[in-house]
Amino acid sequence: MNPSGTTYRDIVEYIEKKAAEGEWSAGRKLPTQREMAAAFGVNRSTVIHALDVLKERGIIESKTGSGTYVSDYDASTLSKRFVNWTDFSKYSLHPTNHDIVRKINKLELDDSIIQLGKGELHEELFPKRLFHDSLRSLETTYHHYGYDDGTGDYRYRKAVSSYLKERGIASSPDTILPVSGALQALQLITLGLLQLGSTVYTPQISYVHSLHVFRTSGMKLKSIPFKKQRLGTEYLRDDLSRNKSSSMLYVNPTFQNPVTTTLDGQSRKELVELSRDYQMPVIEDDIFRDLWIDQEPQPPIASLDHSGHTLFIGSFSKTMAPTLRVGWMTGPADVMEKLSDLRMQLDYGTSYLPQLAMYNFLETGKYDEHLKTLRKELRDRRDTLAYLLETYIADAATWEIPEGGMFIWVRFADDINVRRLFSALVDRGVLINPGFIYSYYHNQYARLSFTSSSLEDMEYGVKVIRDVVDEQK
Ligand SMILES: Cc1ncc(COP(=O)(O)O)c(C=O)c1O
Repeated sequence: MNPSGTTYRDIVEYIEKKAAEGEWSAGRKLPTQREMAAAFGVNRSTVIHALDVLKERGIIESKTGSGTYVSDYDASTLSKRFVNWTDFSKYSLHPTNHDIVRKINKLELDDSIIQLGKGELHEELFPKRLFHDSLRSLETTYHHYGYDDGTGDYRYRKAVSSYLKERGIASSPDTILPVSGALQALQLITLGLLQLGSTVYTPQISYVHSLHVFRTSGMKLKSIPFKKQRLGTEYLRDDLSRNKSSSMLYVNPTFQNPVTTTLDGQSRKELVELSRDYQMPVIEDDIFRDLWIDQEPQPPIASLDHSGHTLFIGSFSKTMAPTLRVGWMTGPADVMEKLSDLRMQLDYGTSYLPQLAMYNFLETGKYDEHLKTLRKELRDRRDTLAYLLETYIADAATWEIPEGGMFIWVRFADDINVRRLFSALVDRGVLINPGFIYSYYHNQYARLSFTSSSLEDMEYGVKVIRDVVDEQK
């Protein structure tokens, strides 16, 4: 063993890997023994030992007076000795994200790009001053240091229960399950409640189409037609009457991502009836509810359901910040108990720190104060984006003004190729969210965000869209 801890085996493995993965191809000259000894922090004798092993295996060869080279061996036999991680991840139960979604996820973190598609608040909309007070409160509220039973902090659950009461949903702290974001709630439902071969109904174009959630472990995602504010409940009733597998319905009914419309009262009522008639649970993901601008949205489906068919999900990712990773889920007590047990098996529950910060933020009225300010900002920003679209691309696209949320859902004219538009915009430093990641049938659409950039960047971004549209014509 050398002072650096590196052994001759480490060196053998390092060089074998480089050769097997094709990074060091046949004929490549290796560094000198002295250079390798310095690079690995080992004695020359360790390098010589490693090189002897590699020579024995036919991976390298020495040429007198010239040096050591990677030899022309059969790389396929060598690569068999290494784990093929690509195959492992490709064929795993939970596949990697779609390539385009991964690309967007990466670009969303690039500060040099104008973010015109992202579903989050720009940092200037985050209530820094108010929230810092709540962070300071942790000094006195954080005093449970051990594991809990997956149910989370009681004070947070109580505060969320009061919050839900104000929105018409009856719950108790015991029926609130803190989660690390709404997406985790969907994963818990998938793992804890869905059965192999289950059907999950969801509107034709839906947030969950852009993810693998629900589709893992053999569940079927089935689209229901919907137009504007109406969901195709007749279609759903018909399908349910023939469907023999267990089913659930997923809806994001208020300012739906990405289309921004809100289900009307009639659709909500019909869904409650359907769920009762066919014992079909409804997953209501109401993550955008608090972002209303013009008027309070329709009451939640959970507030109309008095027979325990609805699992209601919310989160502070959209009104505060997604990095907080804190949200909640509520439903029948036995279901929440089962899912908190699942949390114990998966990760022992949500961190107490964001729960306690949000408990304080809710209890002291700061959340409501923040929402009041935020709604004014949202109105200004929505109206600004609508004005910019009208000014620059009215001849190339159509849209409707949303009553809340974060986005305007834009339909580009048929002669514009939105895939090409998306790529050309990325090249010009502007990111939009193309409709095709949510639905094959929405190739002409894009989701533009009025919350994720500064106002100056928003204007610049729309002007660039104009330029790129002109280049396509
Ligand atoms: C409809 C919907 N549900 C859930 C999520 C995920 O939210 P969270 O950050 O709370 O996991 C998103 C994020 O964009 C969303 O749009």
